[in-house]
Amino acid sequence: MARFLVTGAAGFIGSHLVEHLRASGHTVVGVDRRPGADVQGDLLEMDLAPLLDGAEYVIHLAGQPGVRESWDQFPAYSRGNIETTQRLLEAARGRSLKKFVLASTSSVYGEAPMPAKEDGPTLPVSPYGLTKLAAERLCDLYGRTAGIPWVALRYFTVYGPRQRPDMAFSRWLTAALTGAPIKIYGDGQQLRDFTYVGDAVVATQRAALNPVVGMAINVGGGTAVTVRKAIRLIAAVTGRPVRLQYLPPAPGDMRETRADTTRLWQEVGFLPSTPLEEGLWQQYQWLLAGRE
Ligand code: NAD
Ligand code: UGA
Repeated sequence: MARFLVTGAAGFIGSHLVEHLRASGHTVVGVDRRPGADVQGDLLEMDLAPLLDGAEYVIHLAGQPGVRESWDQFPAYSRGNIETTQRLLEAARGRSLKKFVLASTSSVYGEAPMPAKEDGPTLPVSPYGLTKLAAERLCDLYGRTAGIPWVALRYFTVYGPRQRPDMAFSRWLTAALTGAPIKIYGDGQQLRDFTYVGDAVVATQRAALNPVVGMAINVGGGTAVTVRKAIRLIAAVTGRPVRLQYLPPAPGDMRETRADTTRLWQEVGFLPSTPLEEGLWQQYQWLLAGRE
């Protein structure tokens, strides 16, 4: 059984990953600046050596997520996504880590043609996407110069129980429950390759433990739908009428995200399979349970 260090362990994806790794019999130390992880601290300030001492695998999920805030709050994105990654990689230098897994994003693609391939162009349209691309480049730099075995997982819009409150499904399910209007940025025809969190964590565990190294890998759900279609599913899953409110497009919002998952299948041996209706149902049940 393997020993993992998971950063961002109190977060949405991190909390699921820690549970999944432990259920698979692995030993996990989770770190986060928020309460809820085994070790509480800020990766930008804390001594990283003791954390890395016992670790064979590092899964670096800590970061500053969210596309829409990244214009106004660039320092937080630069620190959260670039500086934390460099600090961890530097601390990993000279150790015999088996794998360093970076949480990257579909946002690195921006205006690239879809379905996006890992070896194709990366043309981010948000500061968020750019900071994650820089983090990927740092992994490549430390891979080439310090021999750190890395992979970067480009997650495509992850959803499910405990999803961040700023994300679309969290907001829309809450709106459906309370009768508040569902806000749509732009015309609602933008497409997202929504990925269920349970699938994202299985892909992450396998990408760590498999021999694959030195590349980015798309983790896309295979259920690309428009925002409008997703909202119709929300109405169906909740059984509630929804009111729509159209707002101007959000700067940095990609028109379409669609993953080519050939590499995920070839290198990791896994493809997400949770249908969107099923995943939304799980997220809705979680939301209802929290309101009891
Ligand atoms: P999240 O905000 O729920 O989790 C991130 C966690 O990292 C938080 O708990 C936060 O406290 C912690 N953190 C941030 N900076 C830290 C620091 N300096 N020191 C210690 N802890 C710190 O976000 P999430 O949705 O679970 O995303 C996890 C990762 O995956 C992020 O890097 C995000 O950019 C990336 N990602 C997420 C999605 C998605 O759809 N949720 C898609 C693509 C990529
Ligand atoms: C999400 C995450 O927030 C990022 O951290 C992640 O890196 C990114 O996925 C990714 O895959 O790269 P986003 O696709 O914007 O970003 O995720 P949602 O907040 O779920 O938004 C999905 C779509 O719904 C977007 O087009 C967004 O503009 C739209 N939206 C969101 C609305 O129309 N209304 C809202 O209230 C919220």
